[in-house]
Amino acid sequence: TRVGVLISGTGTNLQALMDRARRPSSSAEIVVVISNRPGVQGLKRASLAGIQTRVVDHKLYGSRAEFDGTIDRVLEEFKVDLVCLAGFMRILTGAFVKKWSGKVLNIHPSLLPSFKGVNAQKQALQAGVRLAGCTVHFVAEEVDAGAIIVQEAVPVVAGDTEESLSDRIREAEHRAFPAAMELVASGAVQLGEDGHIVWKQHS
Ligand code: GRF
Repeated sequence: TRVGVLISGTGTNLQALMDRARRPSSSAEIVVVISNRPGVQGLKRASLAGIQTRVVDHKLYGSRAEFDGTIDRVLEEFKVDLVCLAGFMRILTGAFVKKWSGKVLNIHPSLLPSFKGVNAQKQALQAGVRLAGCTVHFVAEEVDAGAIIVQEAVPVVAGDTEESLSDRIREAEHRAFPAAMELVASGAVQLGEDGHIVWKQHS
């Protein structure tokens, strides 16, 4: 399965996905990394791994539709079958999400449906939960609401700050995202017509 990864920054999730895709057992081949911002560390990580990169700078587009249209063209150019949003900080338009339905995965640093949106880790601390974590889900038109593929919980530790909790969650992300990518790339999991997860081996 030809995978395109969209990033906006550091790219530690990208690194985890690249490391997994390099295994002989992987069903995924990362063929392009697209960033909406120039010069970010994630682009360097991709180049070091010998993966083609493209920058589609959202500031150069007059509308979300035009920005998404360019992203779409790059994904088609590289014949991408599966898109992974790895710390990609843009909201994709409904038209893009509809076209790529069942083919776009996102990682969110909370146990959805709790704590949607930005600062999810901070929301968890403020709510006083004892378990936090991350979720990999199919992207749907509603933000942070698509069918859940993989989750991993992490404990909230006394004295945790937003930073210490985010670091612990990010370690979980680096396990959960590659696992979810493999499940979808291998065909073990797909998005059903009704918007729910379908596990292939179970009839
Ligand atoms: C991660 O914390 C992820 O949960 C959020 O953005 C961050 C991406 O970090 N979506 P990185 O660029 O993958 O290091």
